[in-house]
Order: sequence, then C-alpha cells, then structure tokens
Amino acid sequence: MGRGLLFSFINKIFSRSILVLLFSAFAACKSPMLAVGGSGDGLGTNSQITYSAQIKTIIDNNCVSCHASGEIAPFALDTYEEVSSRAKWIADTVKSRQMPPSNVDNSGDCNKFVNSRWLSEEDILSIEKWALAGAPEGSKDYSKISTGIRRSLDRVDHVLEMSEPYTPSETVTDENRCFLLDQSISAPGLSLSGFEVVPGDIRTVHHIILSVFNSDADVIATRALDAADPRSGFSCFGGIASTTTVGLWAAGGGPVVFPEGTGFPLTQGRPFFMQVHYNSQNGVSPDLTKIKLQLSDTATPIGILFMGAPIPFMLPNTGIIETSNTGIYGLGPTTLTIPVGFSVNIIAVFPHMHKIGSRASMKFVRLEDQKNMCLADVKKWNFNWQDSYFYEEPIVLTPGSYTGTMSCSFDTDNNWIPGVGSVVGGEGSSDEMCLGFIYYTIHQTPL
Ligand code: HEC
Repeated sequence: MGRGLLFSFINKIFSRSILVLLFSAFAACKSPMLAVGGSGDGLGTNSQITYSAQIKTIIDNNCVSCHASGEIAPFALDTYEEVSSRAKWIADTVKSRQMPPSNVDNSGDCNKFVNSRWLSEEDILSIEKWALAGAPEGSKDYSKISTGIRRSLDRVDHVLEMSEPYTPSETVTDENRCFLLDQSISAPGLSLSGFEVVPGDIRTVHHIILSVFNSDADVIATRALDAADPRSGFSCFGGIASTTTVGLWAAGGGPVVFPEGTGFPLTQGRPFFMQVHYNSQNGVSPDLTKIKLQLSDTATPIGILFMGAPIPFMLPNTGIIETSNTGIYGLGPTTLTIPVGFSVNIIAVFPHMHKIGSRASMKFVRLEDQKNMCLADVKKWNFNWQDSYFYEEPIVLTPGSYTGTMSCSFDTDNNWIPGVGSVVGGEGSSDEMCLGFIYYTIHQTPL
C-alpha cells in the first residue's frame, strides 16, 4: 500500500473514532487450580519472607483492585488463605508477567510509566521465594500494614451518568453499547484533567471509552442513532461518528489524573459519548454507570498524534507476520517539525492492535542526529487490557524534525481466532490493526 493510500486508510478509520474497536471478547475466566509445592531451583529459600511481612503488601497494592469479591477477576486474593492456596500458581503468573496485566515494558529499557501495573523484579523474586518456602503466614497481626486498595479522585467537579439503566443481553457474551451522556459542561474554556469510572454493575462493565464530539453535526447524527434504538443507548461496534477519545478505562483500573497542568479541551454545551463493553459471563443486571470528572480552567491542551502500519493479508499457522511503517500523522505531514521557540512534551502512548497481535513498538528518530527515541515496547500484547500509558517523565522534543516508526507483529500460530479463515486490516473484531496514539502538549520556550 502506498504512503498516500495508507494515510487515507488510517485517516478514515481514525476519523471514525477507531478506539471503539478496542472492545471484544473477554477471555473466559479459568477456574482456580490447586497450588502445588515448588521444587528447588536455586532461588534460595532461607530468607524470612512471610505473607504478613512482605507478600500481603505486594498483593494488596497490585492485585486486589481486581482480585476481590465482586470485582472482575475470577477469585479473590484478599486473605492469607486465598493467596497461600495459590502460591505456586501466583508465582508462575507473576514471573511470566501474565499478571498483573500490562501491555508496555516498564523495566526502564523503554521509559517508565506511572500506570503500567508492573511488579518490580524484587517483588517477583519475593513471591517466588515465599511460594518455594511453603507460603508461610508469619505474624497474624496485620494492623500495621497500610495498603491503598481503593483509590478515588480527590476532587470531583462534574458527574456524567447514563440517563436510564441498560441491562446487557444474556445471550451475547460480549456486547458493545454506546450512550450519550447529556450532562454537558456549562462554562467555556474548561478541560478534562482527570476522571474516575464508577461502574454500575461491576460484574459486567469490562471496558469504557469516554469521548467528546468534534462537531455539532456529529452530535445530531448520534442522537438520531440513539433515538432509533428503543432501549437505553444503542449498539455500536465499529464507530459511529467523529469523536476524540479522552479517557480509557478497564475493569480494575482506578481514577486517572492527567499529568499536572494538562487536560483535554471540552466544548461547552456538547454531550459526552461513552462506549461500554459488557461481558455477561457472570450474569447480567441493570447497569447505571457514572463517570466522575475533574476539570481545569488553566490546563495546557492535550493533543493526539498517531502512527500506523498497513496490515498484510494473513492466514492461520503461517508464523509471526510483521508490519512496519514510518510516518507521524495528525500535525501536518508525516514528519513532525518543531520550530525554534517551541517544545513538545510526549506525555502518554496508547498502542493498539486486535486479537492476533503479539508485539508492538513505537519509536521516534530525530533527523538531525539520527537519535533514536523509544516510545513504547509491547513485548506480549494482551487485547483485553489495553490502556493509555502515561510516562513518569514526559519525553521532551526540542526544535528539530522527527520521524516515527510503528511496528507490529502478529502471531498466526498461537493467537489465531477460532473459526476465522483469513485476517486483513479493518475495523471488525476479527480484522487487525497496528496503530499507536501519542498524547502531547505544546509549550513555548524562551528564545
Ligand atoms: C486489572 C485487573 C487485574 C489485576 C490488577 C490482577 N489480576 Fe489476576 N486476573 C485478572 C482476571 C480478569 C483474570 C482472569 C483471566 C484473565 O482474564 O486473564 C486473572 C487471572 C489471574 C490468575 C489465573 C491465571 C491463569 O492462568 O488463568 C492468577 C494466578 C492471577 N490472576 C494472579 C494475580 C496476581 C498475583 C496479581 C497481582 C500481582 C493479579 N492477578 C493482578 C485480573 C487482574
């Protein structure tokens, strides 16, 4: 596909709010296995690692937001019995980094992110040693252990809410439903600086995408779709209008506060747009989800750039298939040039593939000196847990010209979707994509 064609392909899907494609089948929960005793593998089990002294804090801070009764994970990990009976299993899943679910490498080889759900090597080793030592409990006095299980926004300025409850279908396991949220902002010049999703039915609400409309015409078109569907909201896989995604949330995620002093500009008087992926495997009940917002009247606006690569025609069991493309889209031509007197802060990335994706990487190169800048490295893609990842420190682009490369790998042997004959690029849940979004802010620098 030529550059022009690719650009228009990406543009077309982008303008239809491609982020709605995030949603799809949520992996069926496996039933808990019994813990089996570990065998010696040279880790050394003589140190005094106990549940009460070390492990509880690690599990509470990294697992319990999902692994608690009534939350999204299939079993709780909030008592000694729950954790110790699965010690070996837990050790294996944290060592392979299957849990906690995260898509970006946070080792520091390619930046560090504030919200990557990444256990330190030290914590992983502690869990392994503890499991090998037979998962000792230690002191039963947990009163001195402080944990931050539930976090919430420290200030709520505005609340969005579905106008009437929606009960997801019992026959469709994974359902995508869109809702207009009519609590528009009544003052001009405000930006969204943070949000917190309060799912109505915690068992079914799996992912949420919060967006804003780009024009009044899009609002009108969307109201027509909403009116045509007699139930609350309307069915919407594949995108319906030109919207800008301002918030992504997956079950187990806490509140999101954008980096200090930044926010997505909001248009006074326009409704918000929410897409919900419902998963009905644990039963359904009426859902009335709310989103709490934090607003700012002084925020530097966050903009979105993106990169993307064309998807080759793929057949099952043909190994790893790779695609790559160089070009940055969204601020003029495919090369980004920052003039003297300005700088650009890259504050977050959002890599996106569908289900057979296995690896992705995003990088920038500064043309003047060919300096390579790694933006994100996805070593093991997990479709169900994609997120926008915010850097611990923004990547600062000084004046100069930059080009970007997006690369993706697809595993046609292991990730293939049963029953699908071939895969091409597109918007459907069994089509593929290779996209990376980049959140940035522009700053004026003293000359
Ligand atoms: C963001 C939510 C979330 C967090 C955080 C999380 N889990 Fe999970 N976990 C799940 C869900 C959901 C499943 C069910 C399988 C799946 O969807 O991957 C699961 C499955 C598991 C499994 C079974 C894996 C298998 O082989 O099927 C283990 C063990 C586990 N989690 C341990 C942990 C531990 C230990 C932590 C913290 C270090 C943790 N999880 C953090 C959501 C989470």
